[in-house]
Amino acid sequence: MPSREEVAYFGAGPAPMPTPVLEQGARAFLNFEDSGLSLAEISHRSPTANKILADTRAALASLLEIPDSYEILFMHGGGSGEFSAVVYNMVAMWVEKRRQMAERELGDAQEEILEKVKKEVREEMRLDYIVSGSWSLKASQEAANLLEPLKDGGKVGNLVNIVTDAREWNDGKFGKIPHEDTWKLTSPKASVFTYYCDNETVDGVEFPSFPKCLEPKEEGDDRLVVADMSSNFLSRRVDVSKYAVIYGGAQKNIGITDVTLVIVRQDILAAAPSPSFLHDVGIWSPPAILNWSIIAKNNSLYNTMPIFSIWIAGQVMRSLLSTHDDAKVAGQEAVANAKAEIIYRILDSNPSVYQVVPEKSVRSRMNICFRIEDDATEKEFLQGAEGRMLQGLKGHRSVGGIRISNYNAVPMVNVQKLASYLEDFAQRKR
Ligand SMILES: Cc1ncc(COP(=O)(O)O)c(C=O)c1O
Repeated sequence: MPSREEVAYFGAGPAPMPTPVLEQGARAFLNFEDSGLSLAEISHRSPTANKILADTRAALASLLEIPDSYEILFMHGGGSGEFSAVVYNMVAMWVEKRRQMAERELGDAQEEILEKVKKEVREEMRLDYIVSGSWSLKASQEAANLLEPLKDGGKVGNLVNIVTDAREWNDGKFGKIPHEDTWKLTSPKASVFTYYCDNETVDGVEFPSFPKCLEPKEEGDDRLVVADMSSNFLSRRVDVSKYAVIYGGAQKNIGITDVTLVIVRQDILAAAPSPSFLHDVGIWSPPAILNWSIIAKNNSLYNTMPIFSIWIAGQVMRSLLSTHDDAKVAGQEAVANAKAEIIYRILDSNPSVYQVVPEKSVRSRMNICFRIEDDATEKEFLQGAEGRMLQGLKGHRSVGGIRISNYNAVPMVNVQKLASYLEDFAQRKR
């Protein structure tokens, strides 16, 4: 039976965990801090659970320097749950803003207010999606699915505006982020939000930085930006103040599965309309379990939360804080970059053997995707890797190829083991 030290795991999620955190977790799972109870047994409403939530929030706020005007929520449903939550909550907020504007203009004329907002929803409201890979594509499809009841003779596609679809610029495949000059954004006033996935796990495409054209151009130009950071959370600095919402499932860089982190600007939580007004407009009000305002009001304890998973996430964050000290997430960014560079350098020096999938300027530091000559050679590569206990390297089933996931908990020593295998394999095939 191999030990943890013998196996080098590069899975895309669930992903490797720091061994010390798992060791502490094993103890906490049996008997948390000598309480005689497992963390999986205690009440989510107990003082212990409340302290775990508060400590985890504080660690995250410190790591990412999250401004006080943001709320940190722990939620169920993973990244996929947030595909829906983003639509429900943000559309409700947009409708409420428009209702208030109509009220200021029309006073108490409730029927006219309703008709005006209904018209604006159908004719003006747009949800902007930047489709740079499989996950942002899925998110945009979920938006279209949820907005289907609003279809009014026209196409639901009118409501979901695809700002850009990277496949159209790359022979039908993901692997590029089209130049911002070609993006078709709607105006900040009509746009409910502009959505992008910061790191596309399946396709190995990562935004090098915050998109320039989403920066506010003038005072009051409040384009609300929503980002899925499921697969590069805590791997680089983020200016949280540029976003309305950031979210990510925990199971890659933060901890184990079961918990989803949402960082949301407080003014968005405040703008929740009455469910009956939403229904009259023809929109469902957010289900309670996905309703950010309800979750926030209940200190993320609207229902039974996985306290063990939240505690694990807190331990991972605390270990990042103690490893990198004042550098915080910038310290982790330097490590992530250095590990990715080692791999890409070998791939680039062996172009006849390895073909990196995405364009150089948008290569992911977290998910390194490449192809080898043909299926048989890729199989041979994977078998050889298994022989050296290098695991989790198969590309996503939808695209094939090889994928090295370089998450935070992958130690440098494992990257070096993989690097020497990549060198050896290339030497044999050259
Ligand atoms: C970038 C990204 N977003 C969303 C998801 C979906 O996450 P979940 O499986 O937690 O629903 C994934 C899953 O791998 C992902 O990588």
